[in-house]
Amino acid sequence: MDTATGSLIQYKLYIDGQWVDSASGQQFESYNPYTGKPWALIPRGNAEDVDRAVRAARKAFTTGEWPKLTPSKRGALLRKLGDLIADKSKYLAEIEVRDNGKLLAEMGAQTAYMAQWYYYYGGLADKIEGSVIPSDKPDTFNYTRFEPLGVIGAIIPWNSPLLLTAWKLAPALAAGNTMVIKPSEYTSASLLEFMKIIEQTGFPAGVVNVVTGFGPEAGTPLVEHPLVAKIAFTGSDVTGQKIYEAAAKGLKRVSMELGGKSPNIVFDDAEIDNAVKGAISGIFAATGQTCIAGSRLLVQQSIHDQFVERLVAFAKTARMGDPMSLDTQVGPVTNLPQFNKVLKYIDIAKSEGVRTVLGGAKATRPECGDGWFVEPTIFTGVKNSMRIAQEEVFGPVLAVIPFRDEEEAIAIGNDVVFGLAAGVWTQNMRRAFLMADKLQAGTVWVNTYRAVSFLSPFGGYKRSGLGRENGQEMIKEYLQTKSVWISTAKEVPNPFIMR
Ligand code: NAI
Ligand code: MG
Repeated sequence: MDTATGSLIQYKLYIDGQWVDSASGQQFESYNPYTGKPWALIPRGNAEDVDRAVRAARKAFTTGEWPKLTPSKRGALLRKLGDLIADKSKYLAEIEVRDNGKLLAEMGAQTAYMAQWYYYYGGLADKIEGSVIPSDKPDTFNYTRFEPLGVIGAIIPWNSPLLLTAWKLAPALAAGNTMVIKPSEYTSASLLEFMKIIEQTGFPAGVVNVVTGFGPEAGTPLVEHPLVAKIAFTGSDVTGQKIYEAAAKGLKRVSMELGGKSPNIVFDDAEIDNAVKGAISGIFAATGQTCIAGSRLLVQQSIHDQFVERLVAFAKTARMGDPMSLDTQVGPVTNLPQFNKVLKYIDIAKSEGVRTVLGGAKATRPECGDGWFVEPTIFTGVKNSMRIAQEEVFGPVLAVIPFRDEEEAIAIGNDVVFGLAAGVWTQNMRRAFLMADKLQAGTVWVNTYRAVSFLSPFGGYKRSGLGRENGQEMIKEYLQTKSVWISTAKEVPNPFIMR
């Protein structure tokens, strides 16, 4: 909202270095979840816009300045982008808070930290080395090169728009690709603001493009476009599966990060105060709207009641309200369908016979105003077979499940279709290593939760995803290997047999 005029802020698509309206001329509203009111107008992109963007990205990949840049120069551009992000981090954080309802207290640090992805992959750009392969054939020289794939389509969810973009954009550009990004229809503004920074950095036109719009109207055409080489997706497993199927028709590569139902496991030998905080950060941080949410809290029977009591006492103190206020600890749910979905899961859990020991309803505290707030909710008496223990809620709703011993903790922990993350709280070293070995998850945290870094691979086992993000290795997900054979023989030998 432009507070001076009371009108909605109007955004445009960013295609081929230009700010343009959608082909249809249509727009849709983006809401501020704290007020429940629209504040911006986003272009409603469709297949025509996607086609324009993909063609621009393909052109930028094959002609002009971008393919001529040395890897070192590409790296320098990415590092410059990192500097500009660091400069503008407060502004980006405020947009994210307004559009998404994330806490300023968290976002201020997160947008600044985001610069690290661009520094790291910028640094990696000129360290992608092929090798000389020892040849078993006389008079030949064989070496490998890593080459970019082409146009990458990135499809981003609403829970961490800029950070999840950085995880894809930084390595994709470092590897020499170009990109078309489709942000979530609920949170498109921050990415469009970010494009102003891309523009300032001096990337050639068409290297990074943004088409906003809805999944079926703008997402599907991006997945299906024949000039897109790979889709990098973060979101729900249901949409991930649809995208995988569509990508298969074009034999496209995919990388996917699809959420979870992560177990956060507390043993009776844990440092209890820390474990309570760990449980809180697993489920109430970011209002539970994180793929890595520790939404199943497994507590050893011997300490179950006492632990739950302390957890409830701590969670009761959580301050809700304006996400722009640095004191707020639990903000709103990002969008209305998600708000309704969280409330629906609360009803489902109650009908499954759980005990509500905290919350269990929409928040009506005065400081929550007309926003989409749900009370931090804790259910006990949960069986792992219940829907509340099996399905991703993506909200501040915790299912507490008791267990007897290590063996049972492992069995329950792994008994879901997902495998993104797991937490373990123990002071016993043998137990820590054992659990880290046995839990089927892409990330295991011991005596901490929600630690994520550009340096460390991140991704899912089972239905939580395909491929990894972050760390050195994953840049290969944006590269393809070429094997080059050069003959030094004076004469071509017998052409009728394999060389
Ligand atoms: P979604 O997975 O449907 O949407 C993610 C992105 O995919 C958005 O940009 C959307 O426009 C796009 N999309 C949707 N359908 C598409 C299609 N057929 N082809 C191409 N692109 C498509 O997630 P949504 O609807 O925002 O949330 C639904 C549920 O997903 C949530 O309730 C939550 O449980 C889960 N979720 C999980 C996330 C995670 O990081 N694991 C992130 C966001 C949501
Ligand atoms: Mg919004």
